[in-house]
Amino acid sequence: MKRSMYAGRVREEHIGTHITLKGWVSRRRDLGGLIFIDLRDREGIMQLVINHETVSAEVMATAESIRSEYVVEVTGLVEAREQANPNLPTGAVELKVEAITVLNTAKTTPFEIKDGIEANDDTRLRYRYLDLRRPEMFANLKLRHQVAQAMRGALNERGFLEVETPILANSTPEGARDYIVPSRPNPGKFYALPQSPQQFKQMLMVGGIERYYQIARCFRDEDLRADRQPEFTQVDIEMSFVKGEDVMVMMEDVMAETLKAVGVEHAFPLQRMQYSEAMDRFGCDRPDIRFGMELVDLTDIVKDCGFKVFSSVAQSGGLVKCINAKGAGDWSRGEIEKLADIAAANGAKGMAWIAFTSDGKEKSPIIKFFDDETYAKIKEAADAQPGDLLLFAADTYEVANAVLAALRLHMADALGIERKGHALLWVVNFPMFRYDEDEKKYAAEHHPFTHVLEEDLDKIETAPLECGSYSYDLVMDGFEVGGGTIRIHNAEEQKRILRVCGLTDEEIEEKFGHLIHALELGAPPHGGIALGLDRLVMLLAGKQSIRDVIAFPKTSSASDPMTGAPSQVTTRQLKEVALRIL
Ligand code: AMO
Ligand code: AMP
Repeated sequence: MKRSMYAGRVREEHIGTHITLKGWVSRRRDLGGLIFIDLRDREGIMQLVINHETVSAEVMATAESIRSEYVVEVTGLVEAREQANPNLPTGAVELKVEAITVLNTAKTTPFEIKDGIEANDDTRLRYRYLDLRRPEMFANLKLRHQVAQAMRGALNERGFLEVETPILANSTPEGARDYIVPSRPNPGKFYALPQSPQQFKQMLMVGGIERYYQIARCFRDEDLRADRQPEFTQVDIEMSFVKGEDVMVMMEDVMAETLKAVGVEHAFPLQRMQYSEAMDRFGCDRPDIRFGMELVDLTDIVKDCGFKVFSSVAQSGGLVKCINAKGAGDWSRGEIEKLADIAAANGAKGMAWIAFTSDGKEKSPIIKFFDDETYAKIKEAADAQPGDLLLFAADTYEVANAVLAALRLHMADALGIERKGHALLWVVNFPMFRYDEDEKKYAAEHHPFTHVLEEDLDKIETAPLECGSYSYDLVMDGFEVGGGTIRIHNAEEQKRILRVCGLTDEEIEEKFGHLIHALELGAPPHGGIALGLDRLVMLLAGKQSIRDVIAFPKTSSASDPMTGAPSQVTTRQLKEVALRIL
């Protein structure tokens, strides 16, 4: 029999028609002579009724044999339900079954197939095909499809060409470790899977393509988190003859069309916030601006105060800042001191605090160190009122900001501060370099192909940390959902940047010779951006992890419990690529 429609799509208008449905048995209730089955397909659930008074003994026997997750085909008459279920889109109707066929049986599943299940992540991933039968997971994949299609459509309309770039490639530094693949015809040599198509898309610009995009898989061997997978997807974009503003405006148009396609409202154009302002006010370069609790800088106020921890940091070039967690002033000393763990995890040496109870008392381990004037100034700067809790960080610029950024998010969760809807903004003008304390050298903050601000070009060698860059990150709800830059199109500038990053001229020639030569052969000014598709869809789906919007994601140890990847290979395979396991 041919399927007439999806079970989840049957409505009152179908009453009186004969239809055939196919799908999975979500639930079966046997009331003796009367059997109810919830039939599930990708569009939803529909109730089937098998009544011994109206069907043959054979049909009744089949219905009695059916268990959860059996795959069945049913034909019958759509009728109005006696007691409509308003919680189900198909709740006004039911199917009076006339014939039923079991297309396949199923053993007892390791977890129940329904939304909001408690199965642990490993089990969910081991039986991902069962997990995907859950309506929520189908909705996530559908949303991902809609977002990707909307982006493709918007980019196609604007003259972008979709071009594929190699997966077997050479290392492109994006700040992570490479996944490497041995080459059989070239013993001892390896490909690196692309951390992004960055160098290829630049080559496409040198090749005159002018407008490129690709829904590109990227591979990065880094510590995994809820918003990081070893392989993930970028909507990767590059344009010739543009300034940063052109890329941002184009991206906003694409985002506006995409959000509209999935029914999300957001005002455009987006706010552009300087990197330095984001750090000052929120302590991080991807601020969630849907709530306040902004960081307050107290460095000048405490410079000469009696609390040595604060004054010494303030005098030695560090920062003393605080946040005001309104509503936590009555927390117990124990509850407050627990927050110090979060501070410590972000590098803090301690976490001073002042609690203002709602009945007008003040509790704190540090008030005693302040003279009246300093204390009054702190309270004024932080707008301290009864019911407030001030949390302090005194440390380097990086640590003080990181600590308070983490505490701000934690307190927002703990206090149940509402973060409704979505908030997008641009964070622009990142520093060109950061100093890598572990490696003891400068590294590019974005990547080393980023163009330094014109006014800073003469400081590249003399004051690298003072150089700004033409860079812009797209931030949504406290996540970096995209990042891009205007690129270097001048070979000499490219070499200067790579030298500051610690490469010798020989290494530059060996690793980036192809790029340098391309820049010498008529490279147009160009720039672009890459959107993290997984993160964007995660936020639009209201999920906490990108795993929920990836069909077959990996665990936190980068493995796939379903297929068992990664796995061992035979000695022969190793020999073919001239490798031996240590
Ligand atoms: P970047 O490294 O910022 O830029 O990456 C772009 C976007 O990709 C997403 N992303 C990730 N998503 C999931 N798991 C990961 N491990 C992961 N790493 C990054 C983020 C990020 O904003 N070539 C440059 C782009 C350019 O300059 O045009 C690049 O890759 O959402
Ligand atoms: P101490 O003088 O070490 O007893 O510290 C007094 C208070 O200041 C304690 O609550 C510490 O947690 C806090 N504290 C110590 N170092 C720092 C720091 N670098 N930043 C913020 N608070 C700190």
